[in-house]
Amino acid sequence: MLSTSIRSHLAGALRTGDAGTRVTLGGWVHRSRNLGGIVFLDLRDRGGLVQLSFGPAWAAPEVIAAAAAVGVESVVLIEGTVVARSAETRNADMDTGEIEVHAVSLRVLSPAVTPAIPVARGKGEKLPAEELRLRHRYLDLRRPELQAALVLRHRLLQVTRRFLSDRGYLELETPILTKPTPEGARDYLVPSRVHPGEFYALPQSPQIYKQLFMVCGFDRYFQIARCFRDEDLRADRQPEFTQIDIEASFVGQEDILALAESLIGSLWREGGADAPEHFERMTYADAMEQYGSDRPDLRYGLEIRDCSDVFRGLDFGITTSALAAGGRVRGIVLPGAGAWSRKQVDELEALAKGAGAGGLLRLKKTEGKFDGPTAKFLTPEAEAALPLEDGALMLLVAAPDHVSNPALDRVRQECAQRLGLVHEGDRRFLIVTDFPMFERDPVTGTLGAVHHPFTAPKAEDMAAWPDEPHRWRATAYDVVLNGLELGGGSIRTHDAAVQSRMFELLGIGDVEEQERRFGFLLEGLRAGAPPHGGIAFGFDRITMLLSGATSLRDVIAFPKTTAARALFEGAPTVVPAEDLRQLHIRPDVK
Ligand code: AMO
Repeated sequence: MLSTSIRSHLAGALRTGDAGTRVTLGGWVHRSRNLGGIVFLDLRDRGGLVQLSFGPAWAAPEVIAAAAAVGVESVVLIEGTVVARSAETRNADMDTGEIEVHAVSLRVLSPAVTPAIPVARGKGEKLPAEELRLRHRYLDLRRPELQAALVLRHRLLQVTRRFLSDRGYLELETPILTKPTPEGARDYLVPSRVHPGEFYALPQSPQIYKQLFMVCGFDRYFQIARCFRDEDLRADRQPEFTQIDIEASFVGQEDILALAESLIGSLWREGGADAPEHFERMTYADAMEQYGSDRPDLRYGLEIRDCSDVFRGLDFGITTSALAAGGRVRGIVLPGAGAWSRKQVDELEALAKGAGAGGLLRLKKTEGKFDGPTAKFLTPEAEAALPLEDGALMLLVAAPDHVSNPALDRVRQECAQRLGLVHEGDRRFLIVTDFPMFERDPVTGTLGAVHHPFTAPKAEDMAAWPDEPHRWRATAYDVVLNGLELGGGSIRTHDAAVQSRMFELLGIGDVEEQERRFGFLLEGLRAGAPPHGGIAFGFDRITMLLSGATSLRDVIAFPKTTAARALFEGAPTVVPAEDLRQLHIRPDVK
């Protein structure tokens, strides 16, 4: 396979059936061993590795000498014959381990300087530091693990395209130089040379464009779309990432979710795993109440309990003032964790504080007796009402929900790790529905869209509470796997007047400003818009999970660091002052 006018076979694809075949192979020298008289080179190409041996019985002395001299990572072209190995020289660790190639000629097509980082690794040998690997990505990408991840990425892209195309979805492209689309992050801006002081934005997603495709009557759209978001980065976020972006007309929430389940099923099968036909469901309200997160990891329990009633009326300042301020006392019970040391619990408290809580209240029950700094405030009735088994530890946060939710979520995740409750092979797919339409900024009190401003609120909520938009739920949904958000979407507002009201509630009341920022959408909606909705999946995240990687950087060919730098190509970079001047940017501004 993949033979060309220069080579006859892929080295890594040779098997015992090829014994006796004369081959011409091209590739990189992965390893080299000189066993006094016989030189062995492992040759690597896209198909894998094969052992070449240069022995005096079949190769001329100058060929053996050339093989001994060639440096690793050089590109060579060899001719030889495939030979079955004897039982004692077979190598079960190599796919080609039952054969070797007796090489008779060797040409060095491109000698390599000593590689800055090794490509070949011995068993158990650690990888070089990631900074180094990213700096020398052209070598790092030669590693079989990264090659396999990118090959899987390719296969998943093909499955996506086939799946959606077979169902009538059209692959349509949208611009990269666009107008800002609010997805909650900061835009990357591109200055216009021909229009001084004006900027394009790189798309945070093709959201408005895909809605316009529905207005135009394309009915079903998809795109493997590059998205750009200037936000704080984590292992599961890149400033430039890829979405499987989908939109359809004349659909309701269940149409999109059925498609989503089926697409995810196809992708997981391609990745050699499986996914259930239907995913678990949970409302946003239940997810927040039980797990403090809208993307709960359901591989373990440790649900949050509301113990407000137990603490009401107790002579305990912290809980009394939190309850009086409208907060609650909620926490998680950790079976068997009563034996954790004070230091261990202090570490958990630090996590809770890092997530915004004032602290963690601790209670433990040993041989029927309550212990810990909070225990002395408990009455016998309160003790009886607390859900603690003997030997358990309970950690509580007394605060409003917007404070206790992120703190308890963080603590719950850490405790699950410590208790050994996270089983890597488990897969708990979940669809979270009924997100609120808006969230109120706890400091300024202004409303922000939880999903995005184009999501349709539930009609029944708008009718029930016309003047209380903070109570409206949205027809928005997320697909979650083991605590990671795989995708999210919604049914959109297709009525221009309702869309305009949404902008108003979000603080863009001025009609002129609405037209200036979103006129192209509003005009479209006024021109006759079908009901429509869609979803977008994080394609890098899906590939990461299916390849067993733990960072998006291991499934993206040229990723950015968490400081948003491309270390290999060296971006971002300073540009000449003259280039800036042409873009009407003052070079002296830092
Ligand atoms: P959303 O913003 O939820 O929705 O994005 C969809 C999915 O994209 C992935 N994702 C990311 N992956 C890597 N790095 C990032 N910085 C990053 N940000 C998001 C997540 C997420 O679930 N236009 C809407 C979709 C719609 O309404 O149809 C949107 O972009 O997996």
